Amino acid sequence: MASEEKNQSNIINSELNLNYNKYIFADKPINRFKTKPKVEDISTKLDELRNEIEKIENCELKKNASKIVFSDGNNRSKIMIVGEGPGQKEDQEGKPFVGDAGMLLNKMLKSINIERKNVYITNVVNYRPPNNRKPEPVEITKYSNFLRKHISIIDPKILILMGSTAMESLFGSNIKITKERGSWKDIIVNNKNYLCMITFHPAYLLRQPENKKYSWRDLKEIRKKIDQLNISL
Ligand code: URA
Repeated sequence: MASEEKNQSNIINSELNLNYNKYIFADKPINRFKTKPKVEDISTKLDELRNEIEKIENCELKKNASKIVFSDGNNRSKIMIVGEGPGQKEDQEGKPFVGDAGMLLNKMLKSINIERKNVYITNVVNYRPPNNRKPEPVEITKYSNFLRKHISIIDPKILILMGSTAMESLFGSNIKITKERGSWKDIIVNNKNYLCMITFHPAYLLRQPENKKYSWRDLKEIRKKIDQLNISL
């Protein structure tokens, strides 16, 4: 072999050896499974999101509310519930769904064998709207960016949207809840697909109890899906 060719061959061999050293002699199996996000990661991300929301500017809701109402429940849960916005009691306590609608929500969950503490609960807007008015479309849009981040952090297997405001926040305002509730839908949030059920809001059911029969159907569907997907709660 000519000496230049020999040098070249040595270089190639030594590169190969380097690569062998790097790749072949690992004595552990390759971990092909995606590791679950750590509890601390989720909590840190949620703290960051809460801080981001607290920095919101020019927001009528924040100006009139006494404090932020961020979330309640288990941040590792695979079930995430989204309501509309805090009422008076929620504004006082800083927790979602602690008033009359919250009591009904707890009963609805119980009826399908779910403890409230085992799900994750938040709202479309995180500050109480003055006089409990419905959030304006611009407010829904503004807060939907936060909600989308929130969903990505919790990464639920089932997303339950309660009421038309939660529905509008992710699906827009051209659809009607009476038509859309009760069937499984896919929603893409930050490039990931989530299984989603739209259902009536408990506060609406307190005003229109004759519609509880539809919610009962939806709840049974949700229970069925939890069992099918083997979601432990
Ligand atoms: N209604 C909601 O939508 N959210 C709450 O937190 C309370 C009542």
